[in-house]
Amino acid sequence: MHGSRPFQGLRRAVPVALLLCALAVFPARVARSQQDRDRWQRPAEVIDALGITAGSRVADVGCGEGYFVLHLAQRVGTSGAVYAVDIDPKALAIARRKVERAGFSQVRLILGREDDPRLPEGELDAVLIVNAYHEMRKHDAMLQGVFRSLKPGGRLAIIDGAGEEHQDRSALMRRHRISRKLVREDAERNGFRFREERPGFDRPGRNARHFFFLIFEKPAEAVRKRVRPAERRVSSLTSTVNELTFNKIVMM
Ligand SMILES: C[S@@+](CC[C@H](N)C(=O)[O-])C[C@H]1O[C@@H](n2cnc3c(N)ncnc32)[C@H](O)[C@@H]1O
Repeated sequence: MHGSRPFQGLRRAVPVALLLCALAVFPARVARSQQDRDRWQRPAEVIDALGITAGSRVADVGCGEGYFVLHLAQRVGTSGAVYAVDIDPKALAIARRKVERAGFSQVRLILGREDDPRLPEGELDAVLIVNAYHEMRKHDAMLQGVFRSLKPGGRLAIIDGAGEEHQDRSALMRRHRISRKLVREDAERNGFRFREERPGFDRPGRNARHFFFLIFEKPAEAVRKRVRPAERRVSSLTSTVNELTFNKIVMM
């Protein structure tokens, strides 16, 4: 009887010790994997290209385990907001742990639907879709949801594994790729204007892949189309004012 008590104590202590070890190791592992990816993903360059600054309101759609969410949260600060959207609750749970550990109160995690990112409408400055667009089966519905979420002039970046133009979408999807041509056609069909292609990224290692980097914008005309003639006259007189002021005029 007496001999079993220390053994029982040990049985209780081992799982607790393992849990404590895991909790201690998790932040170190996260930091290492973020740093490894930073070398080829050049996150600051991506965030700069989208014009994201302190106070910006942005989304990472198909955020996975939150690699970009942490970088975006750092950039927008507590006066901004990052909407982290994914359809996979397990990936979101990992992203949540990282966000909580970093103490980022500016991040909102959203369990999206296959055909709807469930973002607030007309509020966002930029949306990022990284290595996720090729997986989206309801791409038109997703792009429409993203379009609605952006302010006029807001930017959309699509970074994805570069696929050959002659292959069709499902063949490319199986290889976790998509072609630039398909992305441009999809985006333009859903109201976006192509802005530019920036230098891409080369992921090293076993899953080596080249990623393209395309930037689109929601045209300011997306608002102008709904403007009544009298208001249109006001807007042409004020063509030099910035977009924020223009939006206020339209909304009056
Ligand atoms: C390869 S992971 C990339 C994750 C992250 N963007 C990154 O670069 O680390 C692709 C992610 O897209 C998500 N996804 C696929 N379709 C989606 C959709 N319609 N809406 C939101 N997320 C989606 C998947 O659940 C997955 O987490």
